[in-house]
Amino acid sequence: MDCVTRGLFITGTGTGVGKTYVAALIAAALRKAGKRVGVYKPVASGCELRGGELTSPDAIALWEAAGRPGRLADVCPQLFAPPVAPHLAARAEAKRVDPLLLRSGIEKWRQDSEIVLVEGAGGLMSPLSDDDYNADLAAEFGYPLVVVSANVLGTINATLQTLITAATYCEGLKVAGIVLNSVATITDDQSTDSNRDELERRCVPPVLAAVEFGGGLDRDVDWWELAQSR
Ligand SMILES: Nc1ncnc2c1ncn2[C@@H]1O[C@H](COP(=O)(O)OP(=O)(O)O)[C@@H](O)[C@H]1O
Ligand SMILES: [Mg+2]
Repeated sequence: MDCVTRGLFITGTGTGVGKTYVAALIAAALRKAGKRVGVYKPVASGCELRGGELTSPDAIALWEAAGRPGRLADVCPQLFAPPVAPHLAARAEAKRVDPLLLRSGIEKWRQDSEIVLVEGAGGLMSPLSDDDYNADLAAEFGYPLVVVSANVLGTINATLQTLITAATYCEGLKVAGIVLNSVATITDDQSTDSNRDELERRCVPPVLAAVEFGGGLDRDVDWWELAQSR
């Protein structure tokens, strides 16, 4: 696929680690820098019925953070209700995830935006369809990865595994860096004090920023510059 528009692929160490939260912060930062931001979530499961229509809370959060560009329905063209992996959620509704739409759904954002933020579903090796993993889409889109790591005990293992997957998948996925995100407010998890230093010491890509619970990025990051495609 051609990469004219810049982009970042927001992945993470799993589900519920703050991909949407951090992607929204990145979208807000880019808007502040005057950029036209597009947002794309290829598929979402666990969607909610609102006013008789399935809606993805992720798609809404991304769209709002990007300044409501285009149509909300285009942010995530494939929505399923069951809170399981997308291909299984689709199957439970006697449907299928459309692999072509996973790929073509980004095109209007590429046409109408200067930079597209793509949020995956789950982690790099979480399935999106019967045959596709998040890593497949990341490879095809060609955008550098932002790895959101939850600031919890176990994040060193989960982050390094994600980086190893990125380095070895297809011909290797470029990683812009890591954002260490606090997903809880008060915690007795003592690893939160050392996780940043440990990741900085052990990971090849940089820790770009950390985010406190309820907070913003603790450093100014030049997302526009990082979003150069391969
Ligand atoms: N830094 C943070 N501060 C406050 N709430 C957060 C933070 N990071 C994540 N959350 C909340 O935790 C939950 C999971 O985060 P989310 O961004 O949806 O994760 P993911 O997209 O990886 O599944 C959401 O309710 C989100 O609002
Ligand atoms: Mg999300």
